[in-house]
Amino acid sequence: MTHAPAAQPLAARRSGALKGRVRVPGDKSISHRALILAALAVGRSRIAGLLEGEDVVNTAKAMQALGARVTREGEGAWSIHGTGVSGFAEPREVLDFGNSGTGCRLVMGAVAGCPIMANFDGDASLRKRPMRRVLEPLVRMGAQAVLRGSGGGDLPLTLIGARDPRPIVYEPPAASAQLKSAVLLAALGAPGTTTVIEKEATRDHTEKMLGHFGAQVTVTPHGEHGRRIALRGQPELSPAEIRVPADPSSAAFPLAAALLVPGSDIVLEGVMLNPLRTGLLETLREMGAAIEILDRRNDGGEDVADLRVRASALRGVEVPAARAPSMIDEYPVLAVAASFAEGLTRMRGLHELRVKESDRLAATAAMLRVNGVETEIEGDDLIVHGRPRAPGGGVVATHMDHRLAMSALVMGLASDKPVGVDDAAFIATSFPGFTDLMHGLGADLA
Ligand code: S3P
Repeated sequence: MTHAPAAQPLAARRSGALKGRVRVPGDKSISHRALILAALAVGRSRIAGLLEGEDVVNTAKAMQALGARVTREGEGAWSIHGTGVSGFAEPREVLDFGNSGTGCRLVMGAVAGCPIMANFDGDASLRKRPMRRVLEPLVRMGAQAVLRGSGGGDLPLTLIGARDPRPIVYEPPAASAQLKSAVLLAALGAPGTTTVIEKEATRDHTEKMLGHFGAQVTVTPHGEHGRRIALRGQPELSPAEIRVPADPSSAAFPLAAALLVPGSDIVLEGVMLNPLRTGLLETLREMGAAIEILDRRNDGGEDVADLRVRASALRGVEVPAARAPSMIDEYPVLAVAASFAEGLTRMRGLHELRVKESDRLAATAAMLRVNGVETEIEGDDLIVHGRPRAPGGGVVATHMDHRLAMSALVMGLASDKPVGVDDAAFIATSFPGFTDLMHGLGADLA
């Protein structure tokens, strides 16, 4: 298991207007997938703009342990010499994914379609998270798993990949891109067509990138909000060039900070605007946020744009449950924005937040309460009673959760009294350089 680094407390104070142009690091979801698919392609792929956060670096190490040749050629520039579909070698060491549910679950899928055995583990947070629902379809496809978890979840575990993987028709029980992706990655090793039927469409980076590497994948609408994804197994994946756009889930933090700190006016460059990731932008605009979308363009197969964000008076809104998949990682920072909005914000249907890096529903409510913001959890809904000025003054327990740490610090930049976090170390899992980038905009973090 990954050993916890020493805790790094950090605090944010009410800051002067934030100003400047910045680019946040590469998208985490795309970075994981680029490494995994490049490792399954025949020949050398190149990735530019890879997120070099701990989560993604752990996936790179796993690809190396599985037989791919992974080389860092410069900042964000990586080359991967793949093994081909079903070509992974049995790893000698435990595959340790640290804090990353995405890395762990996607690689479980990739391993399940290969005739090898691998041991999976992670840090104390990942050891609490459920793996069974990912394993269920993988076992149907022919893999076997031995679970040895004692930390409240299922890790550590041993996965024995299928010698002859079977294609399946799979309807995920939850709106989860990780579940979908694990099945699609396992399906690469199976003959025939595997179909995933999603009731609610989730981020589509895996299916888009599979097409980019030359797999035959078709996506058709299903019902009101869903999609049907059909993948022909046993393709030969060709190497590809990938440019990773800036991560909208990381952009969310300076974006929210600029909305809340009076007088702010910033530009966030090259932010990915894949429509399955833009729920936060839509919600903030409904709340009255001044966000201009500038120079919309296509970069590496995704829509991107520069976002100009100016401080805005926000009002509370109701966020429908159907929007959750397109902003699943953004609720903690939206709850912070809602704390400064006039009136009540109700965010519906947040059950999936309970199984993130922490129980994010409970931890978000606790973050607001310790800073004097009235909030309730009703069933799966989070309700925030906003006021144009939030009191602050609390120290937030971040539970090894990077997004809680960054959300709490955003709050402190605009609240009356400073906001502290017990540990900012986990920010490095997804947003290396967060503190420096925020300092560059004028934020008071120390
Ligand atoms: C991710 C999917 C989401 C998200 C996570 C990244 C992905 O999880 O919370 O940070 O890259 O597929 P679920 O698919 O489990 O909701």
